[in-house]
Amino acid sequence: MKILLHTPHAEDAPAWVASLQSAQPSAHVRLWSPGDTADADYAVLWRPPAELFARRGKLRAMFVLGAGVDALLALERREPGTLPAGVPLVRLEDAGMAEQMAQYAIHAALRYLRRFDEYDLVRREHGGDAPWRTLEPHPRESFHIGVLGLGMLGAHVAKSLASLGFSVRGYSRGMKTIEGVDTFAGASQLPAFLDGLKLVVNLLPSTPDTDGILNRDLFARLAHGAYLVNLARGAHLVEADLIDALDAGRLAAATLDVFAQEPLPPEHPFWRMPRVTITPHISALTLRDPAARQIARKIEALERGEAIGGIVDIRRGY
Ligand code: NAP
Ligand code: GLV
Repeated sequence: MKILLHTPHAEDAPAWVASLQSAQPSAHVRLWSPGDTADADYAVLWRPPAELFARRGKLRAMFVLGAGVDALLALERREPGTLPAGVPLVRLEDAGMAEQMAQYAIHAALRYLRRFDEYDLVRREHGGDAPWRTLEPHPRESFHIGVLGLGMLGAHVAKSLASLGFSVRGYSRGMKTIEGVDTFAGASQLPAFLDGLKLVVNLLPSTPDTDGILNRDLFARLAHGAYLVNLARGAHLVEADLIDALDAGRLAAATLDVFAQEPLPPEHPFWRMPRVTITPHISALTLRDPAARQIARKIEALERGEAIGGIVDIRRGY
C-alpha cells in the first residue's frame, strides 16, 4: 500500500515519514515533491498545493493532519475541481488535541477570573512602583462561560470548565446533551446562549456560516467587560470590531491563538494592545505519533471495508 505525504513543515517531514511508517509497517510512505504524479492509495496532507492532486490516479481517501479542513476547502473554492471528487476527506478526531485545548481554555478562564491579567498590566506599567493593591476577584457564580462549538474539542473544553465549578453553556448546530453544561443549538438560540456571558471560547470550524461570527453584534450580547478567547480560526473574528469593543471597554480583554493572517504581521495593532494576549496557533498542536496511529487504524478499517469516523461533509464545510 502506498501512502503519499505532504507535511506542515519541510523540517518535520522525516519525523512524519518515520511515525507513519512505524504506525503502518507494511505501507510504503513517500514524501510528495513537485512533479510526483505516481500512484498512491492514500494521501496524508496538511496545506497541500493544488499541483499535488493533478494527474493523479484515484486515491482511496485523503487524511488531513489537523482538525480543521478550511484551508483545503478554500483551495477547492479558489480552484474548483482540485480535490478529487468522491474521495473521502478525513480530519483528525481529537488525537491528543482536546486535552491541550482544555488546558489552554482553563488557563485563560482562571487568569481572567482571578484578574491575573490585570496584575500583569499594573506591574508592566509601574514595575517596582506598582501599587500593592488587591483587585476584587470576579464572583465565580456570575462568571458564565460559553463555548461556541461542541465537537471533539469544544465538548471536552466545556466539560473540563464545568468540572472546575464554572457555569458553562455550549452552542452547536444540532442539540447536544453534556452533563453539567447548558446547551443551545442553531442560530435561533444564539442570542439566549450569548446573553450575559462573561467569557466566550470559540471552537467552531471555519465555514461560510461561521466566518465573522465574532463581531460587534455578538459582543453586544455579552456581559459588560466580557472576555474573548479565540482558539479556532482567525476568519471567525472581525478584528476591527474587537479593537472597537476593547477601546470602548465593552470587552475587557481577549486571548487570541489564531489570526486572519499568520504569522501576525509586525505592524498589526494587536501587538500594541496590552489587553490582547497573543499565542502563535499553538492551543492544540497536532501530535505526530497519536495522529499517525489514528490514521493508520482508519486506513486498516477502510481496507477491511468498515466505516470510519471523521469524514468531512464537504457541503457543510466541516
Ligand atoms: P468538530 O468536531 O467538527 O466540531 C465542530 C462543532 O461546531 C460541532 O459541535 C458543530 O455542531 C459546531 N458547528 C459547526 N457549524 C456550526 C454552526 N453554523 N452553528 C453552530 N454550531 C456549529 O471540530 P473540532 O475537532 O472540535 O475542531 C473545531 C475547530 O477547532 C477546527 O475546525 C479548527 O478550526 C479549530 N482548531 C484549532 C486548533 C488550534 O491550534 N488553534 C487546533 C485544532 C483545531 P454539530 O455538533 O451540531 O455538528
Ligand atoms: C489546527 O489548527 C487544526 O485544525 O488542527
